[in-house]
Amino acid sequence: MDKPFSQACENNRGPIFNALRPLIADKTSVLEIGSGTGQHAVWFAHQLPHLVWQTSDLPQNHPGIQLWLEEQPSPNLRPPIALDMLVDAWPETSYDVIYSANTAHIMPWQGVVNMLSQVGLHLLSGGLFCLYGPMAYAGEIAPQSNILFDQHLRQQAAHMGIRDFHDINRLALNAGLVLLDDHPMPANNRLLIWEKA
Ligand SMILES: C[S@@+](CC[C@H](N)C(=O)[O-])C[C@H]1O[C@@H](n2cnc3c(N)ncnc32)[C@H](O)[C@@H]1O
Repeated sequence: MDKPFSQACENNRGPIFNALRPLIADKTSVLEIGSGTGQHAVWFAHQLPHLVWQTSDLPQNHPGIQLWLEEQPSPNLRPPIALDMLVDAWPETSYDVIYSANTAHIMPWQGVVNMLSQVGLHLLSGGLFCLYGPMAYAGEIAPQSNILFDQHLRQQAAHMGIRDFHDINRLALNAGLVLLDDHPMPANNRLLIWEKA
């Protein structure tokens, strides 16, 4: 098979990395939810040799992630584990960072609910949950390009769509997470950072 490629990943990895780097300088273990192609994992892990980066996704994406890991290996990069937010099968491990990009609007809402409750259980105290992607605020999606993106998602599948920050933050609070930051990012995305109390 051909190595999967995401142009969006190439575009957003720099800005995400620059925002994340100071926050995770003293962290040692990252679980990535929904690694997709694996492009973020190989690029971030290579530049963060002080921590172990665990990739994960639905099993159908594992061969593609493996191809990226084989082509650009790092000693701190772990092959993907099967992690489906709709299935309760998390490893019996805790991490000090859990990172996920562009997943909350793709998985069903129940997946987002499960993700936040499991993140609360699998983050070490003082650990960070970092969620990147487009967000609505108080029911409003902006700008027009995000409204069109949301419509496109909902036409593709009824369970997809841009989520509301306040709904996710409520789940986070219930999971024992406190919002540390909400960074505006290029292309009308956000990088949300919560800390486990
Ligand atoms: C748009 S891609 C984003 C991939 C990558 N994080 C990125 O930023 O390019 C959405 C990802 O969410 C994953 N995903 C969808 N449903 C999921 C679920 N129920 N549990 C875990 N991951 C899921 C998909 O397999 C896919 O890798």
